[in-house]
This record gives sequence, structure tokens and C-alpha cells, in this order.
Amino acid sequence: MADNTDKTGWSANLYNKNAPFVYSNAFTAPVLQMLSPQAGERIIDFGCGSGEVTLELEKIVKEKGGRVVGVDFSESMITQARARGLEHAYVADIQDLPDLPIGADIKFDAMFTNAALHWCKRDPRGVLRSAKRVLKPGGRIAGEMGGFMNCIGIRGALHKALKTRGYDAGAMDPWYFPSVEDYTDILRAESFEPIEVTLTPRVTALPAGVFGWLAVFVRPMILKDFSDEEAADIMKEVEETCRIDCQDSQGRWQMMYMRLRFSAVWKQ
Ligand code: BEZ
Repeated sequence: MADNTDKTGWSANLYNKNAPFVYSNAFTAPVLQMLSPQAGERIIDFGCGSGEVTLELEKIVKEKGGRVVGVDFSESMITQARARGLEHAYVADIQDLPDLPIGADIKFDAMFTNAALHWCKRDPRGVLRSAKRVLKPGGRIAGEMGGFMNCIGIRGALHKALKTRGYDAGAMDPWYFPSVEDYTDILRAESFEPIEVTLTPRVTALPAGVFGWLAVFVRPMILKDFSDEEAADIMKEVEETCRIDCQDSQGRWQMMYMRLRFSAVWKQ
């Protein structure tokens, strides 16, 4: 398998190998149900990754001439999404969405997002402003992301390992895991009327263990400037700290994902 890591640290191949659960039917069913996509609609997927869910949406909407557009910060992901057959896939920062080459007058019925907004710590409200730039008046948004207490245990162990080595773990941590109250507040502040905002714990199996999870989601981002030796040292320490909570008696690894699910309507 070719290493297709891009300058943002993402590798679509590594993501597809170690974290396919992110876009599995079982894990995406609740957020897709909240979105309730209809034939003929135009839907934009914020943080479409390698396009698996986006292509499922396309099957539904294109029946009556609808269209799906995917955007992602990672070139590696967008290249993979296009290779899978997603025609309208663009590299862009959803915290500050630029004009897309789709026609300025094209507006969307809905913005969908899965497992992406927790990477938008720099400007979570910017994501909502970006949605308003491309939605029809009265358009809806539906999404799932990491919420308050997401990755509990692993995140704390990582902070401790970094702090004991003299690093500023808070500044290095790229994640935004809001509570129900936090997210409800920013929805309202950006003129979205919340329909549903909930937190749901989800135990998630890790086929490649905590170490494999860290290799996809931490090594290329938080630890990108570290030597291989120091990064491996930190990742081993984190896995070891988490072993008591995250590995069962048969040796299988799991972790706690806390899903923040939301749906809302843009009230102009
Ligand atoms: C998440 O989907 O919640 C997540 C994935 C990777 C890192 C942090 C959070």
C-alpha cells in the first residue's frame, strides 16, 4: 500500500486501513437518519474524508437530479474520494470556506458532516458561518462529531506523557470536543435553531490497538515534529497507561468515543 500522507499529516490509505469504522454503516446510521436525505436534494459534506459516506448520499439524491459535493482539508482524502468516484470533491478549510468551483449561485438544501468538526478547534463558529455561505435560506445541518469526554483516558494519558517531557499539551491538542450546552450556544449564536443536540457514548473496537489509533490520529498531527524514537516512546507509554481500561481479557482493544449529534435549521 502506497504511503499517500499529505502535508496536513493525513494518509487516506492509513485511515482506510486502521479506522474504517468511522464510515461503517453501523456507526453512520444515526447521523444519516437525522439528515434524512431526499432524492433531488443538494447536499454538501463538510469533512468528507475518503468519500465513502458522501457516495452513499449521492446514490440517494441523484435519483431525481440532486447533487452531492464533498470538501475536506486533506488532499490525500480528496484524491481518494475522487478515485472512488466522487465527482465533486474539493480541498478546502471548512472553518473558512472559499468559493468552490461549482457556480456561485448553487445553494444547498443541507450540510452534512461526520467525524470532522472536532478537528475545527481554531474556529468552530467559522464552520457554521461557512455552512450559511452555501445553504439555501432555511437550509438544515446535521452532523456527528467528538463531544465532551470523547477519547476519555487516551487524551488524558497523552497530555500526561507530553507534559512530563516538558511540552505544552494544551496548545498541541488539536481537538474541540464541546458539551451539549457549548454546541447549543454556538448554534444559536450563528442563527441556527437546534432541533436536536445530544451526547451518546460509543464503545469502539480498535483493530490495531491504541498504538494503531495513535498512529493514524496523533503521530502525523500532534507528534508531527517529533523524531520516530520519541514519538514511539510516547505512543507506547500512552498505550501502556490505557491498557487497564482499553484491553479486555482476550487481548482486544476498545476505546470510548463520545458522539455529539446535532441537527438544526438556519433561521435568517
Ligand atoms: C472522533 O471521531 O471522535 C475522533 C477521531 C480521531 C481523533 C479524535 C477524535
